[in-house]
Amino acid sequence: MFSTAFLDLPALQGASGTVTLPGSKSISNRVLLLSALCQGTTVVHDLLDSDDTRVMLAALRQLGCDVLVDGTTVTITGLGGCAWPREAIEFFMGNAGTAMRPLTAALAVQGGDFTLKGVPRMHERPIGDLVDALRELGCTIDYLGNEGYPPLRVRQPTLQLDKPIPVRGDVSSQFLTALLMALPLAAQDRAITIEVVGELISKPYIEITLNLLARYGIAVERQGWERFVIPAGSRYQSPGTIHVEADASSASYFIALGAIAAGDPSKGSQGKGIRIQGVGADSIQGDIRFMDAAAQMGAQITSGPNWLEINRGAWPLKGITLDCNHIPDAAMTLAVMALYADGPTTLRNIASWRVKETDRIAAMANESRKLGAIVEEGPDWITIHPLPAGQWQRASIHTYDDHRVAMCFSLAAFNPDQIPVRIEDPKCVAKTFPDYFEALFSVAHTAAANIPVICIDGPTASGKGTLASRVAAQLGYHYLDSGALYRVTAHAALQAGLTLEAADEAKIADLARQLPVRFEGEQVLLNNVDVTDAIRSEQGGMNASKVSVLPAVREALVALQHSFRRLPGLLADGRDMGTVIFPNAALKVFLTASAAKRAERRHKQLISKGFSANIESLRADLEARDARDMSRSASPLQPAQDALQLDNSSLSIEDSVAQVLDWWQGKSR
Ligand code: DC
Repeated sequence: MFSTAFLDLPALQGASGTVTLPGSKSISNRVLLLSALCQGTTVVHDLLDSDDTRVMLAALRQLGCDVLVDGTTVTITGLGGCAWPREAIEFFMGNAGTAMRPLTAALAVQGGDFTLKGVPRMHERPIGDLVDALRELGCTIDYLGNEGYPPLRVRQPTLQLDKPIPVRGDVSSQFLTALLMALPLAAQDRAITIEVVGELISKPYIEITLNLLARYGIAVERQGWERFVIPAGSRYQSPGTIHVEADASSASYFIALGAIAAGDPSKGSQGKGIRIQGVGADSIQGDIRFMDAAAQMGAQITSGPNWLEINRGAWPLKGITLDCNHIPDAAMTLAVMALYADGPTTLRNIASWRVKETDRIAAMANESRKLGAIVEEGPDWITIHPLPAGQWQRASIHTYDDHRVAMCFSLAAFNPDQIPVRIEDPKCVAKTFPDYFEALFSVAHTAAANIPVICIDGPTASGKGTLASRVAAQLGYHYLDSGALYRVTAHAALQAGLTLEAADEAKIADLARQLPVRFEGEQVLLNNVDVTDAIRSEQGGMNASKVSVLPAVREALVALQHSFRRLPGLLADGRDMGTVIFPNAALKVFLTASAAKRAERRHKQLISKGFSANIESLRADLEARDARDMSRSASPLQPAQDALQLDNSSLSIEDSVAQVLDWWQGKSR
């Protein structure tokens, strides 16, 4: 997951390959609650691991449910038949509507002393219609803040189940879903009828609810979309095992990707199209119908029971006018596809966008306009005009703590003007798809020249490694410690019984060319063996310095170093990053510090790792190594002509990081 303040997406040129998507949020949270309410143990496979499901799991544990999480498999022992908690409990629901609404209803019907709170945005999301329906039923619910909004306090009900229970259906279908899941708890000796007031929106989500209720033993009778009857004698029963489909709303970004992005011609037939694993056209999720809308805009889609394959069809895409009531969440993705169309696209009947994680009509309009698009909006519609080549603008996309805004606008990186796109607060995707950007980067491609590289070169112990890895962490970029490659090469050569002299140059180069090295966080593995400590010693550094003077060895490591240049970007540190390996890097920094300062730092570092060390001899070693690195004929240590010099002798690491980020901002404006 990217937890950086922002993520700069380089201009992307194409996409191809397979993605496996995480489980559906709607199915996951329903299944969790149903498993908790029923009798018996349920094993849930492929559960989504996200903010919203964590909120639900935490709440179920607070209620006393036995929950065992093993990766994406969760085993839940239901509360059915067990004692319902009588002590006061306070639940924190974050911004998870799919947890807040049904849990409120279930708690209110069962009774107790419960408080339900969330983040500030949750306290702005309406829940009055559900509370009204529950009060009608005899539940006791108080508003603790504003009338009609969380936080809420729920107490003991006096249930009156003899007359139909009215619930509004035109604000959020989650209210009806909440009642449908809560009322079987009260339907032991009588049938219960729910009557929908107003036109029911987002019907497909109700279908998911009914479908899952059936899996848990509750056969709701549906009379049109107006009346729902829960039969007398209904009782939750565990299905034993249940599989969660991949999220169809998450699939929308990759369906759109297949429709927008050209394949990768360098990969031949392998380089064509996007395959989505985990959900197919027969999904029970309403948002799967997004595929029809995408096809109308030009996508070519084929499907099997558990997969979809998407290729670019019509290009540019075709502008459409569509009633999106049946695909409220996925329809946001159409708004970004519309930028690549041949005419305007109007999405109608989307009033519910205004009460989601943020006001999504306003968000999509504002952010599209930042890119240069012309957008019109009304209370329940939006029109997006295509954005022709030559008119795209560099933008920093605000994401409003809304996962879908972030995921949608990542697709703007395929713009014909090859302009990078900044996504603010990228971790907001964790709501439903924590590894969204990793999944995108695993299939997206672009010219190497589009992938930014920042080089930090400098002498031994100047603090390059710390600086480079911190800057990489701030930007969400990959990190190449090129010195480690020379250190590992020397280590491997000695292990193979070679000397580190010119006599063995060709053999060392052969080793270097196929170095089985892997970096895992701070650890360096050679042939799956941890060699971190061995190569990080002073001796390891001296050995590296020896092999690094051999031109054939340097040449042999070039391809390996280039392979670190991957999306979304790279921080590379070493001696010749800016001069030889990445001469076209966008930013080159030459980092120095006085020999005395460097010896002092290296001394501290070695002592903290438990090595013994002497400052004077360290300083002598450093100076000897500098002399060798600077005087060798192959890629001697010297600043690139266009490098910015940074002497950090009297700077804290934070100051140095801030300076490099500041230079980078200046370059990427
Ligand atoms: O940065 P370091 O101390 O880990 O580097 C170890 C040795 O490797 C150093 O003495 C010089 C050499 N080196 C190099 O020649 N070119 C690089 N890009 C990185 C390191």
